[in-house]
Amino acid sequence: MKKQIEKAAEILKETLSVAVLTGAGVSAESNIPTYRDADGLWNQFQAQDLATLEAFSKNPATVWEWYSYRQQLMLKCEPNPGHKIFVEMEKYFPEFTLITQNIDGLHQRAGSKDVVELHGNVMKARCMKEEEKVFDFIAGDNYLPKCEDCGSLIRPHVVWFGEMLDSEVIGKATSAAANCEVFIMSGTSAVVYPAAGLPLIAIRNGAKLIEINLEETPVSDYAEISIRGKSGEILPEIWKLVKGDK
Ligand code: OAD
Repeated sequence: MKKQIEKAAEILKETLSVAVLTGAGVSAESNIPTYRDADGLWNQFQAQDLATLEAFSKNPATVWEWYSYRQQLMLKCEPNPGHKIFVEMEKYFPEFTLITQNIDGLHQRAGSKDVVELHGNVMKARCMKEEEKVFDFIAGDNYLPKCEDCGSLIRPHVVWFGEMLDSEVIGKATSAAANCEVFIMSGTSAVVYPAAGLPLIAIRNGAKLIEINLEETPVSDYAEISIRGKSGEILPEIWKLVKGDK
């Protein structure tokens, strides 16, 4: 493990251009549940009942109640040392793109300025009728919230199963993956596409992949360095070595 951490630091010291993909695992140490771990959300709840347009169309109040619960949970959580290292990286590397699948906004709360949110943000909502109307929104106990302008139902500004990602957002992520020298992936099971395709795009275009995850993933075999551990512990260790020598 120590050798891998040192090697990751060596690679990062030689690099000007970095792209990062994070997943629920980077927020696990902030007490936000992941999706597919033993205690993950998709082992407790049925995704098709809560995270699809069909579910929302049938029962918007149930869906909003669940998102309101998640909003309240996430609002109580604080960024952890893993999030903070990405803030440092943003300042340090001449080219840096932080891509996240997380909807909790913790990267921004940690201080990251520019975050590519692939799956939206749970603290935002949008009008069902005028989809381009996106705004900050905390549901509280209002489980049938309406657009203030047109009175239509509003929905959480997140990507549900079966929905396409915003083309501009995935375009930015794809371009960052294709153009970086090093791609760091942390806290994701790398099974949900198109996010899971980003490290492969990076590798195909000559980037080195550094993975930090508790468990092996489908892309671990393609990684230059694959470290089994917690992002909030491993990332600070790597970063200490990167900063120490420059
Ligand atoms: P998953 O729950 O699928 O995977 C989380 C990964 O993080 C697992 O591989 C864990 O082993 C790892 N992990 C847990 N704690 C960790 C820690 N402290 N440090 C490092 N790794 C840790 O979550 P995602 O990959 O983010 O989509 O899931 C991808 C998408 O599936 C989510 O964005 C969500 C979900 O359905 C939408 O909501 C659209």
